[in-house]
Amino acid sequence: MRSILKTNTALALVLMISGGAASAQDNGVEVLHWWTSGGEAAALNVLKEDLEGQGIGWTDMPVAGGGGEQAMTVLRARVTAGNAPTAVQGLGFDIVDWAKQGSLADLNTVAAQEGWDDVVPSALQEFAKIDGKWVSAPVNVHSTNWVWANKAVLDANGIAVPTTWDEFTAALETLKAAGITPIAHGGQAWQDATVFDAVAMSVLGPDGYQAAFIDLDEDVLGGAKMQEAFERMDVIRANVDENFSGRDWNLATAMVINGEAGFQMMGDWAKGEFLNAGKVPDQDFLCFRFPGTAEQVTFNADQFMMFDQGGAVSDEQAALASAILSPSFQSAFNVVKGSVPARTDVSDEAFDACGKKGMADLAAAAASGNLFGSMAHGHAAPASVKNAVYDVVTAHFNGEFDSEEAVAELVDAVSIAK
Ligand code: BGC
Repeated sequence: MRSILKTNTALALVLMISGGAASAQDNGVEVLHWWTSGGEAAALNVLKEDLEGQGIGWTDMPVAGGGGEQAMTVLRARVTAGNAPTAVQGLGFDIVDWAKQGSLADLNTVAAQEGWDDVVPSALQEFAKIDGKWVSAPVNVHSTNWVWANKAVLDANGIAVPTTWDEFTAALETLKAAGITPIAHGGQAWQDATVFDAVAMSVLGPDGYQAAFIDLDEDVLGGAKMQEAFERMDVIRANVDENFSGRDWNLATAMVINGEAGFQMMGDWAKGEFLNAGKVPDQDFLCFRFPGTAEQVTFNADQFMMFDQGGAVSDEQAALASAILSPSFQSAFNVVKGSVPARTDVSDEAFDACGKKGMADLAAAAASGNLFGSMAHGHAAPASVKNAVYDVVTAHFNGEFDSEEAVAELVDAVSIAK
């Protein structure tokens, strides 16, 4: 399906909507997702093999496009055509929306049998258990405020892990002077917004981030600190290569892996690409929180929404949900994906240094009130607001607005969208 998508998107869309290319196998599940990069596909295989081991067939419905915007477009078309897939990867407020529309099956029986209430953190339950009904199975917790670095490149240029904005900008200057692309980036709206998540958190601080992106407070959205955040985006923009526009995120990660670039600011799905290329944390690559956000975690959690197929939740949907929440799967999958478990009772033993740090950071941030839903990945505000923020951040990144104009546009766009 992936190659069809590349060569003939229109035909693929028709097939997807009609279900002609992907009707669920008997006794199986049809799974719509956007895990198409090397690292993502490797992680998805862990789930496929788990289900195959239980004799449950898997019909794959990949829709390429990081962050899942294209997948959500295909989903909307499928649901409108009365042909919803069995299980669909979803994020945050999108899940809440589908639940409120009555499109999702009730997973309460399996959730009660397996005690999900006790092991899934409350920050996730907000997006999985809607009006008292479990509607989706949380797979993981990702977070967006990470930086990934090529260790050999940093060492060769005498750069230590930067912990402040000034140290970071000094490192960017050093790399530029050495002829290395300082920041690997893909100019796509969701990637610009992912970078902005971290930059905004570092400038606004946790209270400001909450006020701006979760409470949608106009004073903070339009304030001097927000302007400073946009000014920092200008610095980031000045440190990407000239071919950044439209590049997929995993190709940007490859630039860091290959030593063409020093850093990438990206969620921890980037780690899946390093691992897939045989790289080892602390040896080949470094992971650290974006300077100025060491205490905070801006999270997003992938879940599989189970779409109502007319009647009670099917045995296959229940089996998929149960497989996803099992502690052994949560460990095996997240070790490969780069994320951390969506349950609080999974050991960090099998995780590498970045995974262990991710788990410890998440627990600490949750305990200290420093855990916030990612704006860029649909966990801070509903899609309409998220898209409004995307538009402004991207237009600014591409030089359409200066930072002062961007702040005014942000206030307007959010007030129209909310
Ligand atoms: C998802 C990740 C995925 C990334 C890039 C994020 O929104 O949560 O699972 O790897 O997009 O595709």
